Amino acid sequence: MLSQVTTTENRRLIRKRLIPSGAEPPTARDPHFMTNAASHPLAEGAGRRPRDVPSRYAAITGWGYAVPDKVLTNRDLEALVETSDDWIRMRTGISERRIAGPDETTSSLSTLAAKRALESARLEAADLDLVICATTTPDHLLPVTGCVVQERIGAVHAGAFDVNSACTGFVYGLIMGTQFIRSGNCERVLVVAGETLSRFVNWKDRNTCILFGDGAGAVVLEATEEKSGLLSSVMGSKGDVGHLLAIEAGGSARPATLETVAAGEHLITMRGNEVFRFAVRCMSQAATDALGKAGLALTDVHKVVPHQANLRILKATQEALGLPIEKMFVNVERYGNTGAASVPIALCELLAEETVQPGDNLVFVAFGGGLTWASAVVRWADVKALTRDRQEHPYSLSEPSKQHSLTPTA
Ligand code: UT7
Repeated sequence: MLSQVTTTENRRLIRKRLIPSGAEPPTARDPHFMTNAASHPLAEGAGRRPRDVPSRYAAITGWGYAVPDKVLTNRDLEALVETSDDWIRMRTGISERRIAGPDETTSSLSTLAAKRALESARLEAADLDLVICATTTPDHLLPVTGCVVQERIGAVHAGAFDVNSACTGFVYGLIMGTQFIRSGNCERVLVVAGETLSRFVNWKDRNTCILFGDGAGAVVLEATEEKSGLLSSVMGSKGDVGHLLAIEAGGSARPATLETVAAGEHLITMRGNEVFRFAVRCMSQAATDALGKAGLALTDVHKVVPHQANLRILKATQEALGLPIEKMFVNVERYGNTGAASVPIALCELLAEETVQPGDNLVFVAFGGGLTWASAVVRWADVKALTRDRQEHPYSLSEPSKQHSLTPTA
């Protein structure tokens, strides 16, 4: 609770935050917690919620992404496995993907995306209370990649942890970050998703190596009274079919040995066809359910920002939803499947088009290993108004993407 924060800390929060100092956040017992208050069945006239309790939302006020410079085209892949540019384009919609260079890691790409997100929110990293890092490809099993990012951006007042729900990770992270804000635990949360899937791809397996790419995307969430940010969400999982998309060895169940490495068991395996069918089913259902929870119809949606796995999956989802084609944002042709990073990278590219206006509703929807799925309905905030009074905090974006060293520097 805000009232329990120390005086100095309290002053810092009140100086920066977007809600009045007296505002009490709702608790998890509040019937409107994590729901769209206006459309919730208990909201209208039910009288369960005192009128003078201010609402608290988690607006997206900053965003940024980073991808490696190195481009791997379909033609490049023709030299590695028996495939063709035509086949890859026709079956996946992918033309090229980005591949991390020797000095780039999940944390270095995530750090750059995080700095760009902070810069666009005009915040300093020291303003953050929490860093949530979604990744399936952490730099190490320990330390936590979120902590590596926290240290490299200088988020000295923030807690940090990783979320691994594969390609669904960013949407899960966004839902979690929102809950930390709406419960009153945090004022500002960075949700960053980064992947270097190329390090776990079997470059001899044409079923998988054509699909994946590397990158990172980040958003800053901030407490506000304006009805914005996450309005509703759904999450799902189906562990009984987890084997359809797996990395068998390198974890505690099957630690890495010379044999596991020689057999390539530390690399991604996938039953693509079955994952494809699962994806088409769950993407449209998850988006429909999230919209229903928010009390919104498809006509209320400005854009759907889906996990960019395969153009055919996106088209099938769009058709199943009955969504006009121009309402689905697609950039899979340039980046391939960047795992958890794909939704925030797509969001950043959508925002760069400058068509999203305050009050617009966006739908994020993703599926991935686990198997997992999630969807989130997000109302776009009046970001200019929320950040207007702030100084710019330009970061050095030309900083080289160095490997994080595990050797203490002091
Ligand atoms: O974030 C979640 C990650 N996973 C996914 O999103 C994957 C979802 N699945 C897919 O995107 C598709 O299943 C793939 C792109 C992986 C495969 O496409 P498909 O249309 O399902 O092909 P398929 O597996 O049914 O294979 C059809 C044929 C097979 O040949 P035969 O057995 O019919 O002779 C494959 O061996 O295509 C062959 N094939 C290829 N041919 C040329 C498979 N990969 C390739 C390739 N180039 N890269």
